[in-house]
Amino acid sequence: MFLEQIEPLRQSALADLRGATDAAALEQARVNYLGAHGKFTALLKQLGTLSKEEKPAAGKLINTAKSEIEAALVERRGELELRAQLPKEPIDFTLPGRSRRLGKLHPLTQVTEDIVRSFRKIGFVVADGPEVEDEYHCFDALNTPADHPARDTQDTFYIENPASGAPPSTREVPSSSRLLRTHTSSVQIRVMEKQQPPVRIIVPGRVYRRDNADATHNPTFQQVEGLYVDRGVTVGDLKGTVEFVFKELMGPETKIRFRPHYFSYTEPSFEIDFSSALTRKMGKEWLEIAGCGMVHPQVFENVGYDPEIWSGWAFGFGIERIAMIRYGISDIRLFYENDIRFLKQF
Ligand code: DAH
Repeated sequence: MFLEQIEPLRQSALADLRGATDAAALEQARVNYLGAHGKFTALLKQLGTLSKEEKPAAGKLINTAKSEIEAALVERRGELELRAQLPKEPIDFTLPGRSRRLGKLHPLTQVTEDIVRSFRKIGFVVADGPEVEDEYHCFDALNTPADHPARDTQDTFYIENPASGAPPSTREVPSSSRLLRTHTSSVQIRVMEKQQPPVRIIVPGRVYRRDNADATHNPTFQQVEGLYVDRGVTVGDLKGTVEFVFKELMGPETKIRFRPHYFSYTEPSFEIDFSSALTRKMGKEWLEIAGCGMVHPQVFENVGYDPEIWSGWAFGFGIERIAMIRYGISDIRLFYENDIRFLKQF
């Protein structure tokens, strides 16, 4: 009677354990058979009630069954734990890995870094200044008078003074007004106010103008300013420096020429044209690329430098223009659209 109960119980225990589909079901099956009130535990307890003759055979059989059930429990637990770690979706481990494509620097960043690298070779350091400027640093200190067209509210973004109700376009703009800087030249003043000569800086940075965007204009663009102040600085130093940098940027056969021009903060002033395979590709021998000149004595006076002791030169040019010529890009707006198909070409 006792012996006959062992085999069916063993079989149903093994079936339940092996058929458990998760850890909770497995635990339930264990409790059902091997727990304190489990069916198999109950059978084990009955062993004590058997006669001396029956006991050895029954004990052997029931212990073998018990070990078998315990082994099945351990095995199933291992299987379920492994399965829990596996991904839910089928995975083909033999597929080749998916590589991430590396990003790139924006073409304007690349050109800026090239410009900075060239100037560093000849001892220039990078300086920085605020994009929200005041009229003094953007214009007055640069010897640009109040009636100069560059100061027109239609040419520049003025920032509304919260104290005054009227919008800037309808009121007379006081000289302390704040504006978005129209050129990086304002940083010349900021640097000279803070340090004594010699000065040898370049200033890459963002500038703003009230222009409508078209193929060659954008209300915000980037410039690089350069300033060199020391004793006995000449136009020859200016030319030599500009030539060195443009040869580095645009190729060793690049030529430059200076044309007389007017800027209120330099005297004499020049526009710089350059000529290379790149300009010829655009159908032109010479292309205008930058403005420059010898720092105006009044500018030195404004920052407290003695113009009898110090002389210097300054220049400024647009980074987009350099990048457009270098890469043959015909529309400036492409730089700001951030279309990956455009950007990944550089
Ligand atoms: N600030 C001028 C511009 O935005 C460029 C420039 C011309 C800068 C002559 C200079 C300079 O430092 O000397 O067009």
